[in-house]
Amino acid sequence: MIKATLKSTGAYLPKREVSNTELEHLMDTSDAWIQERSGIQSRRFADLTSETCSSMGAKAAAQAMSAASWNRNAPDLLIFSTLSPDYYFPGAGVLAQRELDLPNIPCLDIRAQCSGFIYGLSVARAYIESGLAQRVLLICSEAQSALMELSTRGRNISVLFGDAAAAVCLEAAPQPQHQPRFGLMDCLIHAEGAFAEELVLKNPGTRNSPICRPEMIETGEMLPYMNGPAVFKHATKRFHEALTSLAQRTNIPPSQWDWFIPHQANQRISMQVAKSLSFPEEKVISNIHHRGNTTSASIPLALHEALTEGRIQPGDLIAMAAFGSGFTWGAALLQY
Ligand code: ACO
Repeated sequence: MIKATLKSTGAYLPKREVSNTELEHLMDTSDAWIQERSGIQSRRFADLTSETCSSMGAKAAAQAMSAASWNRNAPDLLIFSTLSPDYYFPGAGVLAQRELDLPNIPCLDIRAQCSGFIYGLSVARAYIESGLAQRVLLICSEAQSALMELSTRGRNISVLFGDAAAAVCLEAAPQPQHQPRFGLMDCLIHAEGAFAEELVLKNPGTRNSPICRPEMIETGEMLPYMNGPAVFKHATKRFHEALTSLAQRTNIPPSQWDWFIPHQANQRISMQVAKSLSFPEEKVISNIHHRGNTTSASIPLALHEALTEGRIQPGDLIAMAAFGSGFTWGAALLQY
């Protein structure tokens, strides 16, 4: 049986680090409020005059491709996940393709917000296991500081999110006989559109015509909206459900996972989920303290950092799970 395997990772972080103290000067908030609610101490913001969602994604991808010893002709599918694309259309995938000087391979854009990496993995897995692709480049990048307002009006969102990009190279490999734990072992994804407006950026959108009106800036209609308590409630429930289902489907209980990498939404959510599975805190990989919530980039960024630090070793079993706007959610189990 052919499986998708993780060949390499790459990441790109903008240089500018923004501390909670810096935000205190821009809005009515406090370091204590932010840390207590989310665990975040600082985050990176892109220099929007020179860094874009696709350019950061391309840099992360170039690093991943170099680590995989892939040349420009190696990938046969590019998947790009973001909620903060350069343009309304075309998607950021083709822009990254151009920047990386890749040939005319298909570029597929994923719109699953914080679950984008898990959704991307499930698409890559389907292409690879069906034989439609041998090598898939999956890029997740977010320039979401461009969407936020650094003011008291925008504080409930703007203190939580950061900018970053990460990429993975996935390659087809035959599963060795007598090795049931190999490569991307399982990946499940779900969505429940009934809650689409609980975490949403409505404008510019074609439901509102014309899509852009000057007063939208005044009224804040162009800012993201989040029902924080609703997100918290659904996220903890769906994370737990997805991970329990992953354990059942693979017949591998959480006690046998070496690591758990949750989408870095909020440290309180991650810890509550780990506790609900009796999974040890020290095996939960977390970088939210200095990265903030980097949406679709958060899992591959945490994975890249843990690999770079030498925490994750070859052969380790890594469970991953995400929940985000949509609502969308999912989970995956990978043997590295
Ligand atoms: N600084 C200070 N005060 C703030 C801030 C801020 N940045 N933002 C909101 N507040 C105020 C509110 O206005 C409110 O004031 P009020 O009582 O006078 O009305 C007060 O703080 C408490 O607001 P709550 O919404 O009750 O705060 P809560 O304790 O629920 O924490 C939070 C808010 C952190 C968003 C919480 O609901 C949460 O963790 N939700 C999960 C959402 C999440 O993690 N989102 C991440 C992105 S989505 C994702 O990745 C899946």
